[in-house]
Amino acid sequence: MRVLGIETTCDETGAAVVRLKPEGGGEILSNEIMSQIKQHAAYGGVVPEIAARAHVEVVDRLIERAIAKAGMKIRDIDAVAAAAGPGLIGGVIVGLTAGKAIALALRKPFIAINHLEAHALTPRMTDNAAFPYLLLLVSGGHTQLVAVKGVGDYVRLGATLDDAVGEAFDKIAKMLGLPYPGGPLIEQRAIDGNPERFAFPRPMLGRPKPDFSLSGLKTAVRLESEKIAPLTATDINDLCASFQAAVVDTIIDRLRFALRLFQERIGPCETVVAAGGVAANQAIGRALARFCGEAGLKLIVPPPILCTDNGAMIAWAGIERFQLGLVDDMTFAARPRWPLDANAEAAHHGKA
Ligand code: KG4
Ligand code: ZN
Repeated sequence: MRVLGIETTCDETGAAVVRLKPEGGGEILSNEIMSQIKQHAAYGGVVPEIAARAHVEVVDRLIERAIAKAGMKIRDIDAVAAAAGPGLIGGVIVGLTAGKAIALALRKPFIAINHLEAHALTPRMTDNAAFPYLLLLVSGGHTQLVAVKGVGDYVRLGATLDDAVGEAFDKIAKMLGLPYPGGPLIEQRAIDGNPERFAFPRPMLGRPKPDFSLSGLKTAVRLESEKIAPLTATDINDLCASFQAAVVDTIIDRLRFALRLFQERIGPCETVVAAGGVAANQAIGRALARFCGEAGLKLIVPPPILCTDNGAMIAWAGIERFQLGLVDDMTFAARPRWPLDANAEAAHHGKA
């Protein structure tokens, strides 16, 4: 089975072909990604109108390239999967419409994918991860701890009450005069910085419900940087290192409590999975590895290219759903909001 996946929910256009391996897991036959970062950099963040237009300009070419690199003809595809949300609605409509059009023209099944579900299922493509597992989803738009019990079966244990972790990285980078997206640059500057120079707060530390809050930490970094301005290169390195250290501690603490909640509500947990753009951060990855090693848990962090937004994860989620007979029709509409766990969403007003 070979499925075409299309991703256009944020600032990355993705098209990919993934094949289901007979022994389980997925083989990525192609994974074409076109980033719009340069077009948004001048504004210090993603501009929805620019994003939608940029997706329109490249999506068909990218799909053609994904099919060609997979060594196929488009008619050889078994199904088409497209991200239908959550995300910036203009962009979502572009990929969703392209996917529907191809499916319709080829008379192939069409599968509408929840972008968050695609992040959540990626470790099953890369590592054949068995259900259930604890997912730490940390990206520019989302920060959640989720019990993944099965395809379409998610229990949200915690989420951010304000900014997403990636968003905090990006905002602090902007504050320090580093270009968008700030995550990778903060990580780089932190390597040469002193993580102990500034004692930034670790928000939510010790709270039993594994929620996140980043705004207090963000304010603390701003106040400190204003106090010592003008900033030298060393100051910036130290601010980055101290901020990143606070994030690392917060993530590990929240994970510890999420694990408890998982064991109470779901049962034994053997595997922790990290996904989303921030999971590409090596300092966070090392801390996760240490924590999981000590707790006797298996840790899966997909390679960075599969942590950030991509078409392969959409194709894989398509394979998973298709195998269960979960296909969609042409009436499926784009969804700007689409929680993984609808029950949690109703009880929770923060952004997730
Ligand atoms: O998953 P993703 O590509 O897009 C969203 O769905 O948001 O994640 C992008 C986010 C950005 O906020 C970016 O700054 C952050 O992930 N990010 C990182 C790193 N690489 C990307 N944050 C910290 N360290 C990194 N190495
Ligand atoms: Zn994402």
